[in-house]
Amino acid sequence: MTDRSVPAVFERVLPLLASAPEHPDTSRGYLDLLGAQGEAPSGPIQSFWESKAGSALYDHAQSLTRRVLPMWFGLPTRAYPPAGGRVLDIGCGPGNVTARLGRAVGPTGLAIGIDVSGAMLARAARTETTDNVGFIRADARELPFPDSTFDLVTSFAALQLIPDPHDVLAGMARVLAPAGWIAVMVPTPRGSLLHRAAKLVGGRSGLVFFDPDEVAEPLQAAGVGVVHTHRSGPVLWIIARLPA
Ligand SMILES: C[S@@+](CC[C@H](N)C(=O)[O-])C[C@H]1O[C@@H](n2cnc3c(N)ncnc32)[C@H](O)[C@@H]1O
Repeated sequence: MTDRSVPAVFERVLPLLASAPEHPDTSRGYLDLLGAQGEAPSGPIQSFWESKAGSALYDHAQSLTRRVLPMWFGLPTRAYPPAGGRVLDIGCGPGNVTARLGRAVGPTGLAIGIDVSGAMLARAARTETTDNVGFIRADARELPFPDSTFDLVTSFAALQLIPDPHDVLAGMARVLAPAGWIAVMVPTPRGSLLHRAAKLVGGRSGLVFFDPDEVAEPLQAAGVGVVHTHRSGPVLWIIARLPA
């Protein structure tokens, strides 16, 4: 008999995992692959995103910002996934972008958001889970999928929080199917107050500030060709494609 408390989308998500857990924990509406083993937050900002208050504040702020400034924060049209495609959204936060990608691929497609923050994922699971949109608690540095699984892999405003962003980019390339797309957006507030403050406290800020080459090089090393990079306001976009 089907267990109605488990969102139906996990019937499609679990078979995609490289190693599915014997007893999947979906008790909070998302699939938790980290349990108690999640690492300590990488810095104060990530610590805030892992709190209930931080995730609520972020959720409201990001949806307002995306509405007011779509030209800075909207996914470039060329990276939109095909109907029926599979999408992975890394560092999905409250899941609004994952849900939009789920609508783009339609009911035969699938959009999966992963994040380390249980608070962010609880919001995502509550408001954005559908039959083709599901969320997983997992670390972006160890993507739990086999090679060549997704048609589009995205990461928006998350790589700057992860201590080993190059490993994440290599993992994004690994799980990308031939002819698949990668879309990365990172904040690049060089010279801003935030950048100066982060420089002052060094590694303790837990933040990384990128030049376009620092994102492009690990992708190119993994065989993914960078199609397009552009700065838009305070953010940098990188769109890349694996050859067919
Ligand atoms: C600023 S939010 C961006 C959320 C969403 N992508 C958006 O654009 O609205 C960054 C997210 O990255 C997540 N994150 C940080 N380190 C991570 C890691 N190692 N693996 C997966 N997600 C991570 C945080 O928990 C947070 O939810």
